[in-house]
Amino acid sequence: MEYELGRILLDGRTISARVAEMAAEVSEAYSGKEFVAVGVLKGAIFFLSDLVRFFPRNSLVRLDFMAVSSYGASTKSSGIVKIVKDLDTDIRGRDVLLVEDILDTGLTLSYLLDLLKGRSPRSLKTCVLLDKPDRRKVDVRVDFRGFQIPDEFVVGYGLDYSGYWRNLPDIHVVNPIEAPARNIQPKE
Ligand code: IMP
Ligand code: MG
Repeated sequence: MEYELGRILLDGRTISARVAEMAAEVSEAYSGKEFVAVGVLKGAIFFLSDLVRFFPRNSLVRLDFMAVSSYGASTKSSGIVKIVKDLDTDIRGRDVLLVEDILDTGLTLSYLLDLLKGRSPRSLKTCVLLDKPDRRKVDVRVDFRGFQIPDEFVVGYGLDYSGYWRNLPDIHVVNPIEAPARNIQPKE
C-alpha cells in the first residue's frame, strides 16, 4: 500500500500550545525533584525537546533515550518490540518519566514500562503526545496526555511513515493511494 500526505490534523501552533500546558503539569508534578525524562526514539524527539524547553529554569530534569523498533515499514503494530538502544542512566531509585510520541495498541509502552519497572526506579510515569484509544489492545496508564485522536495513521512532528515525514511541523493524516482498479466491468 502506498500513502500520500493528507489533511492537517493538528497544526504546529496547536501542538505547541498544548505542549506548553503539558510542560506546566509535568514540572508541577516534579517540582523540586530531580527526574529523568526518557524519550523513545525516534518519534518522541520533537515532543521531548519542545516539552523540556517549556520547563522552568530551576527544573532538575535530565534526559536519556531509548530506541525501540516495533513497526518495520508497515502502519500496523507487530507487537514485537526490539530494544535498539538502551538507557545510559542507571534508573534505580530515580524518578523516571517515559515520553512517547503516540499510544496506539499500547504494546510498545507496556513493554517498556515492564522493562523499566524491573530496574527499580523510585517512580515511573508516562507522558504521551497523542493517544488513539480506539486501537488499544493492552491497558496502559497514561499520566500526561496531549491529544486524543481518531483511529487514523498520522505523520509529522516526529511521527513517520516508513521513516519519512518526521520533519513536518504539523501533524497530518496519511491517505492510502488506491492501486488502479483492474478487471472491473462496467455495471449493466
Ligand atoms: P503501539 O505499540 O501500537 O502503541 O505503537 C506505538 C508506536 O507505533 C509509536 O511509538 C509509533 O512509533 C508507532 N505508531 C502508532 N501509530 C502511529 C501513527 O499513527 N503514525 C506513526 N507512528 C505510529
Ligand atoms: Mg515511536
